[in-house]
Amino acid sequence: MISETLKNPLQLFEVAGKTALITGASGSLGRGVALALGAMGVNLVLASASQEELEEVAGEAESLGAKVRIVLARPDGPEAVQGMLDAALEAFGGLDMLVVASGYNKPGFIQDQSYEEWQSVMDGNVKGAWLLCKAVGSYWIANQRPGKVLLVSSVRGRHGNYSGYGGYCTAKAATDGLTRVLGVEWAKHGITINAIAPTVFRSKLTAWMYGDNELGQQTRARSLSRIPMGRLGEVEDLIGMALYLLSPASAFCTGQVMYVDGGYTAG
Ligand SMILES: NC(=O)c1ccc[n+]([C@@H]2O[C@H](COP(=O)([O-])OP(=O)(O)OC[C@H]3O[C@@H](n4cnc5c(N)ncnc54)[C@H](OP(=O)(O)O)[C@@H]3O)[C@@H](O)[C@H]2O)c1
Repeated sequence: MISETLKNPLQLFEVAGKTALITGASGSLGRGVALALGAMGVNLVLASASQEELEEVAGEAESLGAKVRIVLARPDGPEAVQGMLDAALEAFGGLDMLVVASGYNKPGFIQDQSYEEWQSVMDGNVKGAWLLCKAVGSYWIANQRPGKVLLVSSVRGRHGNYSGYGGYCTAKAATDGLTRVLGVEWAKHGITINAIAPTVFRSKLTAWMYGDNELGQQTRARSLSRIPMGRLGEVEDLIGMALYLLSPASAFCTGQVMYVDGGYTAG
């Protein structure tokens, strides 16, 4: 007998009618995931602190047919993340997916960087992801609902860097650790959590590498020289992996850090 999955494998990617909360939705990678999910019929709760940019993304998603609720906030405290979850419950009656695409880097060599600046990089990446996982995971477990989480790590969670990444590499390694531990702890609750780890992608965060900043040019050239595919990433390059990790296709995959890097970490 041939199973339904083998007869119609594309149903593994059916996500229409689900609801996703996406933080950092005003950003390049968050916007890309939001639009792709919206185009597939997912209801969207989009969060960011930048009203104009967030409204623009919301408008684009609506033009693709998505239903959208925006929340003007960053995941910087328990109340803020609870507000995001409440918005999903109020607007759509539930939440099925969490995408943490908010993140931040402030390069600085350890001998120069202040403790406060280092902490801001840790907070912008790790604190937000932890708070969101705590609030949303608790909701899913209490309501016996399955869920899917996608964190955005980086190849910098695994590889060092010459450019003052003592905050960023440390933060992304912590993101990888959170992915693995919650993958283990949540498996019995029917919740999967995985991370995408991109190499350098064109975005607001990496704009300094595309201009005439000398350290930026060096950083970009060093990354590029190690990427077997010979180019940097564009947001479209990570949509396939994001859809896989947020859809039933990844039902047996959890706690993994998936590199989308043109072969960078293979070499
Ligand atoms: N682009 C790359 O090359 C690359 C590579 C590897 C990993 N990543 C990761 O991908 C994620 C998305 O980055 P991106 O490239 O799309 O950058 P981006 O365009 O700068 O977007 C980042 C988003 O995070 C929010 N944000 C900025 N500072 C924050 C802070 N201190 N705390 C919380 N949120 C903050 C911003 O939203 P508001 O300011 O509107 O709140 C923005 O929407 C990040 O986790 C980043 O580390 C990016």
